[in-house]
Amino acid sequence: MSEFHIVEARPRTDWVYDSLHALEIIVTTELLGEDQSVGADWSRANYSSEVTSLKGMLLALPGQAPAEAVTGRFGLPEAPDEPAEVLGAVEFGLPTRDNLHLMDDVYIQVRPQARRVGIGTALWHEARRIAADRGRSALIAWSHHLAGATSLPERVEPSTGVGHLPLDRGSLFAQSLGLQLAQVERESRLVLPVDPGLLATLRAEAEARALPAYDLVSWTGPTPEEHLGRVAEMNRTLSTDAPTGDLEWQEEDWDGERVRAMDELAHRTGYSVNTLAIHAESGEAAGYTLIHVHNAYPHRPEQWNTAVAAAHRGRRLGLLIKSMNLGQLAAANPGARYVVTWNAGENNHMLGINTRLGFRLHSVHGAWKV
Ligand SMILES: CC(C)(COP(=O)(O)OP(=O)(O)OC[C@H]1O[C@@H](n2cnc3c(N)ncnc32)[C@H](O)[C@@H]1OP(=O)(O)O)[C@@H](O)C(=O)NCCC(=O)NCCS
Repeated sequence: MSEFHIVEARPRTDWVYDSLHALEIIVTTELLGEDQSVGADWSRANYSSEVTSLKGMLLALPGQAPAEAVTGRFGLPEAPDEPAEVLGAVEFGLPTRDNLHLMDDVYIQVRPQARRVGIGTALWHEARRIAADRGRSALIAWSHHLAGATSLPERVEPSTGVGHLPLDRGSLFAQSLGLQLAQVERESRLVLPVDPGLLATLRAEAEARALPAYDLVSWTGPTPEEHLGRVAEMNRTLSTDAPTGDLEWQEEDWDGERVRAMDELAHRTGYSVNTLAIHAESGEAAGYTLIHVHNAYPHRPEQWNTAVAAAHRGRRLGLLIKSMNLGQLAAANPGARYVVTWNAGENNHMLGINTRLGFRLHSVHGAWKV
């Protein structure tokens, strides 16, 4: 398997999403002990939505590049129309609305039978070249590891000093590319159903601190028109207030139109369950949380954004909106088995709330930078 070439997957080459899915099943099972793939439907929807970022997927295929292939927008041959064996893939995003210095979400996967012949490195160099061509000075790449594996004696720590990863093949590979570990994220899980008594107790505790200064609104589905501006404001807050470790992340530019685009993507492949806290006196957004349920794997809903505005912290709003939203999820999706969430290792406030709700650490994720 020493000969390979790299092509760009374009949305019209539909077979690539099934191939990427097959690769994800293998790699997530290897890294996380079970199939945690995001699925072809999500990838297809995600790659066709470029409202806030250009999305790239490069594939390593066997043999030499065909002489006559069409060149894609990143200067590489486009993937063939007919399915081919995918040896490896790199995915990435090029934000177009903010963070114009970045190439983010870089993720490399190589089929186990095709490893240690330089495919991962070649995919990385192509991504890096594209970043440079587009004037991007910083890259953020990800690695995934089961939490239990961090008890291995050899580990790598981020410059923040919070958390660590095992020095396994993903870390060794990243280090071989000269990447530095900038932050460790924790994936935690909450086994469902949550005891309704616990939810009621936590909610009552939070209400005693927060009410009557706030109005709470919950909905399932896209954001109602009257709350678009509030949800946009909460997402902007989240982009700067969640700890970003040693990553050069800049404030995101959000408005109602961007919320609509996010909703549109989320509802092409599933639905979301949302709770918003509104400061009663001013009418401004004070807190917001969203759980997304994928049609392809409704048993593992994902906790996406949660934010409480700085002026409204310390009043148990985080606990209140999260416990309310979990109650709403139980009604909307009673068959769900667990909720997954991702938090920065240094996000003590959010982790504290999650622990009280019953979330437990499952895996760790390295954010590597160059
Ligand atoms: C990590 C991964 C992408 C590497 O792909 P690959 O094609 O085997 O990588 P390369 O052949 O280009 O390896 C480059 C260097 O990385 C290091 N490396 C890669 N795998 C390694 C391993 N199993 N043990 C030790 N070092 C390793 C070595 O320094 C290697 O150079 P060498 O072969 O000359 O010693 C692949 O193992 C994979 O898909 N793992 C699961 C997904 C993952 O962890 N992705 C995160 C990437 S940050």
